[in-house]
Amino acid sequence: MTGSLPRLEVCLSPALLHLFDTRDAVVVIIDVFRATSTIAAALDNGAQCVIPVASVPECVDLGRTIENAITAGERDGKVAEGLEYGNSPLEYPKEFVQGRTVVLTTTNGTRLLHMVKDAAVIITGSFLNLGAVCDFLIAQNKNVLLGCAAWKDRFNMEDTLFAGAVVNRIRDHFALNCDSARAANSLYEQSAKGSFIDFLRDSSHYRRLSGFGLVGDMEYCTTPDLHPVVPILQGRELVIHR
Ligand code: MLT
Repeated sequence: MTGSLPRLEVCLSPALLHLFDTRDAVVVIIDVFRATSTIAAALDNGAQCVIPVASVPECVDLGRTIENAITAGERDGKVAEGLEYGNSPLEYPKEFVQGRTVVLTTTNGTRLLHMVKDAAVIITGSFLNLGAVCDFLIAQNKNVLLGCAAWKDRFNMEDTLFAGAVVNRIRDHFALNCDSARAANSLYEQSAKGSFIDFLRDSSHYRRLSGFGLVGDMEYCTTPDLHPVVPILQGRELVIHR
């Protein structure tokens, strides 16, 4: 009955990416804490584009060549040495970021973005743009891979929880034959008894970031639909899909 519907799958770690066929698919890069939340916030607040790069030196070098660019990012959750700003969505309000290019490098999120080579479309997702991402995926009517950036290849709760929220909302439009998608959906259903942030309080990256005083970031990152835009990769730039 679901034979003619496009596939919906979830990749729980970059280490598993090679097991999925991303050709002609829409791939959603997910890094809830915090890269893909920061990308949604910066673009919705008026950034011209976000350029994800793999390394800190690349970020610094590219930033020098673009007028009025912001070099930003983290390693292990802390502002990386040599960069001007970090990876907090709260660092990019409209009055700061409007019209500027953010060159961003992060431990896991921008890494996964660079690992996906042959997708038809690459977008980024987070709770901040949950509804916009779901509407986009339904409208595309293509195979979808929800790719969790995770933490250094290890499963994480927050990206899986977001993947589950997407599966839960759009599954009637897709063929679901993927146990990781079902598991993500179950996690999401379990969390629906309370708030996302409460559900994530014991998770490893919550603990790591709260140790750096970043609880406010995580509360922000788990608020649905504050930045209802779809960041889409065009060449090397993430821009708002229009
Ligand atoms: C990452 O890419 O791993 C992150 O977004 C980490 C963080 O800044 O919290």
